[in-house]
Amino acid sequence: MIIMAWRKHANGFSRPQAGAEDESPDETSYLRADNNGHSRDADECVSASPMLHHHPAPLLAQEWLIQRHELVFSESDILLGYGGCACIVRGTYRRSQPVAVKLLPPDMLTDTAAKLLQREAYILSLVSRPRHPNIVGFVGTWSGPHGVAGSPLLVTELLDMDLRELCTRSHLTKCAMLGIFLDVSYGLCYLHEQMQPIIHRDINPSNLLVKRLGSSQWRAKIGDFGSANHTSQGSVGSLGGGTELYSAPETLPSTQSEPPAEGITVKADIYSYGVTVLEVVTGTLPEIDSYERCVKRLRSEWPDIHTLVEQCTQARPRNRPTASQVVDLLEQTSTKD
Ligand SMILES: Nc1ncnc2c1ncn2[C@@H]1O[C@H](COP(=O)(O)OP(=O)(O)O)[C@@H](O)[C@H]1O
Ligand SMILES: [Mg+2]
Repeated sequence: MIIMAWRKHANGFSRPQAGAEDESPDETSYLRADNNGHSRDADECVSASPMLHHHPAPLLAQEWLIQRHELVFSESDILLGYGGCACIVRGTYRRSQPVAVKLLPPDMLTDTAAKLLQREAYILSLVSRPRHPNIVGFVGTWSGPHGVAGSPLLVTELLDMDLRELCTRSHLTKCAMLGIFLDVSYGLCYLHEQMQPIIHRDINPSNLLVKRLGSSQWRAKIGDFGSANHTSQGSVGSLGGGTELYSAPETLPSTQSEPPAEGITVKADIYSYGVTVLEVVTGTLPEIDSYERCVKRLRSEWPDIHTLVEQCTQARPRNRPTASQVVDLLEQTSTKD
């Protein structure tokens, strides 16, 4: 229902509107919104997002701004996913490129949600130059009072599905799984080895997107940068933000009164990556009570990957491997299995 309602708006807005240019002389103005006068919710979100706090005016380069007439939705465009604070639909960019469009349906459209979507676009722009084959391709953004039903938009390349759906639908061979694990580790290396490393903070199978390469081969890409953040001196990552089951212990507000002295580091992603690998190989959601059983099963089914998961999910961040060490380990595994 919601999707039908906004699609009506979308198609309306996809045509240039009389006088619209005059009413919106500066389509980037939303990116310079100040941080004053937030509701309580918005304040909480800003404090959970140190980058917003320290850089209240993330400016997106002109090259990432999409003109409203460049994006269209048709009746056959489907809802691809429905996350906690946005929905993702299929659209077409510049007449021919199928894309995924993340937007806020009217019942989710709040100031805070809009700011978080703009912030996600900003992070995506940072990790998209140069483009990396294992990071979802960012196409651009478009917002303001003339966005779809007033919602900012975030447009990315269209992939086939997320990793959770793939695991539910198909039986993956070890070779296919290894390819996917390697792809994600390359993507993490790229994020973590930036001059100012970026922590994704929400690595889990629903945020990893896949595209079919061959009959049993997949390319995996890291998506959903809604919780991602910079690590930088004086700006330690904040608690929370991820999906609890996959969250490293040091990131859980329930186990910490305040962030650890060294801050939340890229090693938080390595922990989530380990849990994700465990889930994909065992085909079981590693809930707290079944976690040990899953690990035990993995030891007999695939010893190399068992070792990797054990290392990645160490309680102490410094005992976990770096993304680059994960790549090394997997590259050896792939030749052995
Ligand atoms: N580029 C894409 N191509 C195909 N499906 C996508 C794409 N982006 C997101 N999805 C689908 O939408 C779901 C929610 O997207 P996500 O970005 O994770 O939103 P949220 O921040 O609400 O979790 C994903 O789990 C996936 O199933
Ligand atoms: Mg998500």
